[in-house]
Amino acid sequence: MRSAFWGIRMKSMVLLSVLIFLLSSCSLVDRNVTPGPYDRPAPAKPKAEPVPVVLPDISGGRIPSFKEVQDSVLGPACYQCHTEATGNRGGVNLETLQNIRDETEKIFLSVGFDTMPSRRPPLSEAEKQVLFTWLDAGAPENEIQPKKPSPAE
Ligand code: HEC
Repeated sequence: MRSAFWGIRMKSMVLLSVLIFLLSSCSLVDRNVTPGPYDRPAPAKPKAEPVPVVLPDISGGRIPSFKEVQDSVLGPACYQCHTEATGNRGGVNLETLQNIRDETEKIFLSVGFDTMPSRRPPLSEAEKQVLFTWLDAGAPENEIQPKKPSPAE
């Protein structure tokens, strides 16, 4: 009778473990245990620090470079929609000097009347000044230093 006895034992053991498994996976068992002192702390979420944008110097008639305007204005405010990778929205690509020069008038109007950036807060006065100063000068590739007044004048 030894084998029959072990048979019953085994069966009840299996049933018991199935029962425990079912219980532990159903909501009767509260698994939202508050962390104890030896639990590993949850990893701290990395904070998305807003990158401060420094506007290029346009004092004294200095004209910023294309790169400066890209880094400070076009990149943060326009490139979500006006690059090859972001879909050239409205058929406008603002990645090349040639395109920008061709669209200068439209850029003046759309930014001047705050229709661009589309569905975003308008550019600040300082940002507009940087962009417009640069466009006014013909969207040069490199910065243009103001001419120093010659002593003869
Ligand atoms: C959220 C997306 C988005 C952003 C950001 C954005 N634009 Fe646009 N832009 C569009 C869409 C969409 C159109 C086409 C439809 C329209 O004119 O509203 C467009 C059209 C334009 C046009 C053509 C307007 C015309 O008269 O045909 C110009 C120029 C332009 N954008 C410049 C800019 C500049 C400069 C910036 C940054 C200061 C900018 N956009 C930011 C989505 C955007």
